[in-house]
Amino acid sequence: MTGDEIQLNDPQTLYERWEDAQWNPFTVPLERDQEQWDEMGETDRGLVYWVLSSLMVAEERITTKFSGLVGAYGSEEEATFLSTQQVDEARHMQFYARFQNEVIADPDSVAAHVNRSREQISPAFEQIFDVELVAAHEQLVANPEDLASKVRFVTLYHLILESTLGLTTFKFVTDYLKGNEMLPGFVDGYSKIHHDETRHIGYGVWFLRESVRDSPEIAPDAIRGMLRTLLPSVAESLSPSSGPGGPDLDALGVSGEEIRDFALGGLTRRLDIVGVPLKSVF
Ligand SMILES: [Fe+2]
Ligand SMILES: [Fe+2]
Repeated sequence: MTGDEIQLNDPQTLYERWEDAQWNPFTVPLERDQEQWDEMGETDRGLVYWVLSSLMVAEERITTKFSGLVGAYGSEEEATFLSTQQVDEARHMQFYARFQNEVIADPDSVAAHVNRSREQISPAFEQIFDVELVAAHEQLVANPEDLASKVRFVTLYHLILESTLGLTTFKFVTDYLKGNEMLPGFVDGYSKIHHDETRHIGYGVWFLRESVRDSPEIAPDAIRGMLRTLLPSVAESLSPSSGPGGPDLDALGVSGEEIRDFALGGLTRRLDIVGVPLKSVF
């Protein structure tokens, strides 16, 4: 099968999938998590605090820096799908907030952790979420008709944040929790969130591939330029030496190499589908 034959779902199909995949963040059972939380040791609690606070810092950024893309839609079907993605992101925040309120049940300590991870955020994380994402979103809001601005934004948001960083975090955090039979309700909700994210990523890969096909003089360079800007920070934020605010990889029992291979493998596959192989970037 050549790259041309790979069938990606268009926005209408993704919209229909969304209709079939509704879930309620308030009905995921959390009773077992509440019991476990009371018995959990400080190391595991620290890990959960870290996961939740980094997810919340990231979700806040990606929820408030998304509307520009909805306004830059190319077809009615695309506008429809993108509005479902915005609802999904709000639903994800609702689940994390409920988990804090009902399981950790100590709003102050979560707020303190979010603030601390905000204060201690690694320079790489800050570069991606506070500098590049904000700039790419502002540029798109100012130029909704400009294809290069839209391609740059989707490269950053769907290909890097949701795929390379998001899928990697999901895999290693849920592997750890499942392996230790910990927090089944959190794993359940986070897995539903992950299912939504795969739909979002499907849109991103579809959009980038269409753009590369239809506008070969604009889109491939826009993708490569964005990746050149971001990849050093991405590599740093996935590395064990990322310092305070970064992932506590030792606690997850995973090597930096495993994490890098997983992240890079996924990015390589998606870029092949898009038609801009990773090796053409540098
Ligand atoms: Fe999300
Ligand atoms: Fe998402």
